[in-house]
Amino acid sequence: MKYLKYGKSGIFVSEIALGAMTFGDKNSWKLGGLSQQTANEMVRRAYAYGINLFDTADVYDEGESERALGIALKGFRDEVHIATKVRGKTGNGINNVGSSRSHISRSVKSSMKRLNTDYIDIYQFHSFDYQVPYDETIEAMQDLVERGEVFYPGVSNFNAWQMAIFNAVAGEKGYEHYQSAQMNYSLLNRDIEHEILPYIKHEDMTLLAWSPLHGGVLTGKYTSKMEMKPGTRMGDRGFVFPRFDEKRYPLILSEMEKIAAEQGCSLSSVALSWLRSKKVVIILGARTLEQFEENMKCVDVNLTTEQVKSLDMISEDREQYPNWMIGRMDRGRTFETA
Ligand SMILES: NC(=O)c1ccc[n+]([C@@H]2O[C@H](COP(=O)([O-])OP(=O)(O)OC[C@H]3O[C@@H](n4cnc5c(N)ncnc54)[C@H](OP(=O)(O)O)[C@@H]3O)[C@@H](O)[C@H]2O)c1
Repeated sequence: MKYLKYGKSGIFVSEIALGAMTFGDKNSWKLGGLSQQTANEMVRRAYAYGINLFDTADVYDEGESERALGIALKGFRDEVHIATKVRGKTGNGINNVGSSRSHISRSVKSSMKRLNTDYIDIYQFHSFDYQVPYDETIEAMQDLVERGEVFYPGVSNFNAWQMAIFNAVAGEKGYEHYQSAQMNYSLLNRDIEHEILPYIKHEDMTLLAWSPLHGGVLTGKYTSKMEMKPGTRMGDRGFVFPRFDEKRYPLILSEMEKIAAEQGCSLSSVALSWLRSKKVVIILGARTLEQFEENMKCVDVNLTTEQVKSLDMISEDREQYPNWMIGRMDRGRTFETA
């Protein structure tokens, strides 16, 4: 297992993290409803592989994912890092959602209780909240850091300008830096390359890539028409998530098939190894132990430079303005960088 420096912090996280979104036997989001026994075994195997980062959220399976993860980590909780999230809707009251001081301060307590821990390693805002003054949100997070309840703040589903505000305010006030951004990134969604990845690089933040197999689509288990097969995530939920451009899917899939044949590996290994080539942390998702084992094989698949390039080209988005104009202004400006 490879380890990457986590943001500007002093810790290292495994390049593969395990996502617990499928954990929890209420199965309220129809994502898997893993039994506690299977969750225990998946977490045990992940730890044995060297995975030291586990991601969940207060809203996953209405809190049951956090509870199941807390139980599964019993005995080695202090050997690993837990990332969880706040901001989603956790109750019926109008204020049981969002990034207010009130919601954050109450939610962190509930998360720690469910996770059976008195500290959260990485606490992430699940998305930006336009309804709450960002000073209130940033100060509430800093209070948790000062109380020792949170070690590292992070964000998820933010625009680059929103991350920049959070880090600028935190920097000005001497608060803890936002060390990571958890974003959807896969061969079927490279949106973050336009603004978010350059910002993250500039700020030395770590990218935690969610839905690396695009909810299972990149395993090739769906046809190009996104058949709603029962027993699959799309089939059970009845809708496609995360969104993507279905027209491009067959082309990407056929390039993946070609590379899988060259490498003698599965499509999921191709998709995950492409992400590994981007030096990001991949949050694996799995509904069964077999899927988990299959996906872990990606750590032994190293795509060639040509294979990465061909996947880059086939899945590439149109370069967005003003990026292409900035590049154009630099034509003919040759220099060496350190
Ligand atoms: N921050 C956010 O907003 C956000 C959003 C989503 C996820 N996340 C995080 O990212 C983690 C991973 O997301 P994800 O679960 O969507 O990841 P994913 O890898 O894109 O999808 C996982 C799903 O794909 C299917 N699958 C996986 N491996 C397979 C295989 N080898 N063969 C066939 N099917 C396979 C399974 O679904 P079925 O068998 O049911 O079809 C599995 O549950 C989550 O646990 C969570 O921690 C964060």
